[in-house]
Amino acid sequence: MPRVVVRLPGRTCPIDIGSGNSDSLGERLRRVSSSSRGLIVADARAWRCHGGRLQAGLGRAGRGLAVVTVLPGERSKSLGQLERLYGALLRHEVGRDGLVVAVGGGVVGDLAGLAAAGWHRGIDLVMVPTTLLAQVDSAVGGKTAVNFGGVKNVIGAFHQPRFVLSDVGLLSTLADRDYRAGLAEVVKYGMIADAAFFARLERGVDRLLARDPALLVPVVTRCSRIKAAIVGRDEREAGERITLNFGHTLGHALEAAARGRLRHGEAVALGMRGAARLAEGLGWMTRSDRNRLESLLDRLGLPAAVRLAQPGVVIAKLKYDKKVRNRQPRFVLTRGVGSASVAPPINASRIRAVLADLIEA
Ligand SMILES: NC(=O)c1ccc[n+]([C@@H]2O[C@H](COP(=O)([O-])OP(=O)(O)OC[C@H]3O[C@@H](n4cnc5c(N)ncnc54)[C@H](O)[C@@H]3O)[C@@H](O)[C@H]2O)c1
Ligand SMILES: [Zn+2]
Repeated sequence: MPRVVVRLPGRTCPIDIGSGNSDSLGERLRRVSSSSRGLIVADARAWRCHGGRLQAGLGRAGRGLAVVTVLPGERSKSLGQLERLYGALLRHEVGRDGLVVAVGGGVVGDLAGLAAAGWHRGIDLVMVPTTLLAQVDSAVGGKTAVNFGGVKNVIGAFHQPRFVLSDVGLLSTLADRDYRAGLAEVVKYGMIADAAFFARLERGVDRLLARDPALLVPVVTRCSRIKAAIVGRDEREAGERITLNFGHTLGHALEAAARGRLRHGEAVALGMRGAARLAEGLGWMTRSDRNRLESLLDRLGLPAAVRLAQPGVVIAKLKYDKKVRNRQPRFVLTRGVGSASVAPPINASRIRAVLADLIEA
């Protein structure tokens, strides 16, 4: 079974990837945690689909774990839900040797992760990501957060899990749109870091869309390994970790302007198309590489444009990007398939022109 390790000073976080490996969750848990007291925080839909199987996989290790389910959706990443989890930790008398097991996508991972980060100043966290996006991205790297005051991820902490267990078998029940949205982040890894992997994705489109575990296991492994290596060198995003934001500058602005009508991965697909067009305009990227990216996104069923009632809002949203310096948005661009770096400031009219092509009025 493939294992990827995030290596940080003084700690490591192993990520086990497989198909059907959630059957061994209890055994895995007993190896890292002395206590079996704690909470399972689960996405309600994921738990409905897989709770029985995960409980069976936990076996006796699950006895001291109370289950709290969280309603699906970004709105659950709130202080109100965080308080609810703290209430449950208190009621179940979870001490400083206790544990939180997060079962779900990025929403539950971020919320339950922050609950674990704060309880007794940090208790053990185990992640069982159940969406493709969470397996390749949000469960790796230790970022946790809730949204507040309309600002995404503004209250958060770094808290590395004791281990992550990614079972691609759990992805079989994902809605098509959620699954495809995760594929956008998979494409991102190929673009920023690995040309051979990108070519493998191009050859494997049909098997990817069919969710073939024999391809998903190496794909999730490769993405986890790329992210783990970057996080190992730059946990706090002082430098290199920013390249993981390829496609996210325009993507986040479009996602915010679409007010819930775009999945995060769909917005990232649009953002990557825009970034590639900016890179081509700067002479960083060839037309043929840009076409390779766009045609892979097309074949994976990811959008090329979004309908927005107020396109002007997108420019305003760009101001909130975390990479903004001196009020200028900064873009992570690519010099071709397999590389990424931060680009020099780009002319506002050029940004507007690229955005206009991504928006249907
Ligand atoms: N911490 C990080 O580093 C990081 C990185 C990227 C994204 N994120 C965060 O992740 C969140 C998005 O995560 P997401 O895309 O996983 O979305 P999500 O958690 O909202 O899950 C998407 C949908 O899938 C459903 N679902 C989950 N597992 C399922 C399963 N196995 N079968 C059927 N349905 C299932 C959920 O109910 C939900 O409706 C955002 O809040 C984003 O900010 C965090
Ligand atoms: Zn993302």
